[in-house]
Amino acid sequence: MKVVVITGNLSRPSKTRAVADFMVDRVRASGNEASCWDLVDLHPHLGATVLPSSAAEIVKAALNDILASDVLVVGSPVYKASYTGLLKHLFDLVDMKALKGRYVIPFATGKASSHKPLVEASMEALFDFFEAQIHSRFIFALDEDFQNDALSENLRALVDRELDAARRAVSP
Ligand SMILES: Cc1cc2nc3c(=O)[nH]c(=O)nc-3n(C[C@H](O)[C@H](O)[C@H](O)COP(=O)(O)O)c2cc1C
Repeated sequence: MKVVVITGNLSRPSKTRAVADFMVDRVRASGNEASCWDLVDLHPHLGATVLPSSAAEIVKAALNDILASDVLVVGSPVYKASYTGLLKHLFDLVDMKALKGRYVIPFATGKASSHKPLVEASMEALFDFFEAQIHSRFIFALDEDFQNDALSENLRALVDRELDAARRAVSP
């Protein structure tokens, strides 16, 4: 199983990236392959990319990794009640048929619990468009789910549950 994690954070340190790093560690510890890309590394090349064919090498590498994933994890901080705009731009560069049937685990971090259904719906809409499969329960992490930037026990348990479900789904 190859898990590719994409995160929409635009700065570091990042709670979103902390969740992603935990996922990567867990996947590797289970003997599977995992990689992680966040927009801090893809910026500013990503914003300047209009066509994937003329993208900078790092953007092409991220796009190719997305296509090569068995499980695609996509996380974002909530910005203005949705996922970040640059994250949308990355997926705007992905062919509309390329993620059909792909197992996707979306998650977000934010400050307002009332924004959970909004960001969940916006991520679902994006991956419904791609006809990907979202079987996971949406993970939304608030500030209280972190202690000194480390994930709380509860958040770690939620992440483990979704990774186990993905493992069972893609490598039965
Ligand atoms: C520009 C901006 C807009 C934000 N908008 C929201 C928002 O609409 N709702 C919310 O719950 N949090 C919002 N936040 C807070 C972040 O989502 C929250 O702090 C998140 O955990 C940051 O993740 P990061 O550490 O990975 O960057 C916003 C933060 C920034 C910088």
